[in-house]
Amino acid sequence: MDKTDRVLVTGANGLVGSAVVEHLTEQGYENVLEVSRQNCDLMDKAETEAVITGYRPNYIFHAAARVYGIMGNMKNRALSFHENILINTHVIHASHLAGARKITVMGTGAVYPYPSPRLPLVEDDIFLGRPHGAEESYAHAKRAALAMLEAYEADYGLEWAYVVSCNLFGPRDKFDIEFGHVVPSLIAKFYHAKETGGQVTVWGDGSAQRDFLFVNDCAAAVTRIMSAGRGPVNIGSGNVYRIRDIVDTLARITEMEDRIKWDATKPNGQDYRAYDLSRLSALGFDPAYSLEEGLRLTWDWYCRRQNEKSLGND
Ligand SMILES: NC(=O)c1ccc[n+]([C@@H]2O[C@H](COP(=O)([O-])OP(=O)(O)OC[C@H]3O[C@@H](n4cnc5c(N)ncnc54)[C@H](OP(=O)(O)O)[C@@H]3O)[C@@H](O)[C@H]2O)c1
Repeated sequence: MDKTDRVLVTGANGLVGSAVVEHLTEQGYENVLEVSRQNCDLMDKAETEAVITGYRPNYIFHAAARVYGIMGNMKNRALSFHENILINTHVIHASHLAGARKITVMGTGAVYPYPSPRLPLVEDDIFLGRPHGAEESYAHAKRAALAMLEAYEADYGLEWAYVVSCNLFGPRDKFDIEFGHVVPSLIAKFYHAKETGGQVTVWGDGSAQRDFLFVNDCAAAVTRIMSAGRGPVNIGSGNVYRIRDIVDTLARITEMEDRIKWDATKPNGQDYRAYDLSRLSALGFDPAYSLEEGLRLTWDWYCRRQNEKSLGND
């Protein structure tokens, strides 16, 4: 990728897309083109094709999606499948029509089979079995995007990479307590408890283990992948944390160690997920942020944002 290339980012207001836009701009890319819900409904085929071909991009980061946490995916199976299939299909087809050189699509670790054929998870194993039941329809829609990329390379020569991402967190996430991902929903709960003097009720028993990556590191990783990677590439920090470690770190940051209550009746999700990061390491990527630094930056951002909202500066 040259600094003068036209680089389009879908989902440009989302957690990942906004971090990618910020990272590319900081790196000196001069033609970063933002596609968000404000200028294009990616569920609409004609509109997507018109907008993407109109921008004449050389490279496309596809980070738009209908994204939920575990409870959201369980309660919105049809919606998640339908929207993600349409969005991915429209964007990948439009990338071909636009004559883009390469597309890098955000995928998810949920695409891996469960039980895992081997651990850590290796990109070659994605299609070796059904995904975990809690995220199945979302995962199938995301797998279809990967199959579509293989077909579009075979028939149209579209270059691609597919980012198989661990859990991400950072500013501009959806801080939704019920349907959101684990870190933003915890941050919203901690904030609420701090404001009201109440307790923080945490789902599950804290034993599930995941790799968490701060979104600025994700943006740097996917930019490396766009420049030099191909095919499916796992991304992660290389550290697997228990949910309990995340809760303890947030409790320390917010000085609320004595206000945590566990609700073991709520789902834990998959018990253990770690990624083989050989492909990513071979591209020369190393994370720059520790878990604590990332959580602190996210917490500070969220507090500032809530403060602005309460002052009516939203
Ligand atoms: N967050 C994670 O932990 C994580 C982990 C693994 C993989 N990923 C993958 O990373 C990608 C980005 O996720 P994210 O966390 O950044 O999600 P996000 O914050 O929800 O961002 C997705 C963006 O896509 C937009 N979008 C959704 N439907 C659209 C439509 N029909 N037309 C135009 N824009 C639309 C959303 O706009 P609205 O907000 O207006 O709906 C949102 O800004 C997804 O593919 C996801 O599967 C994320």
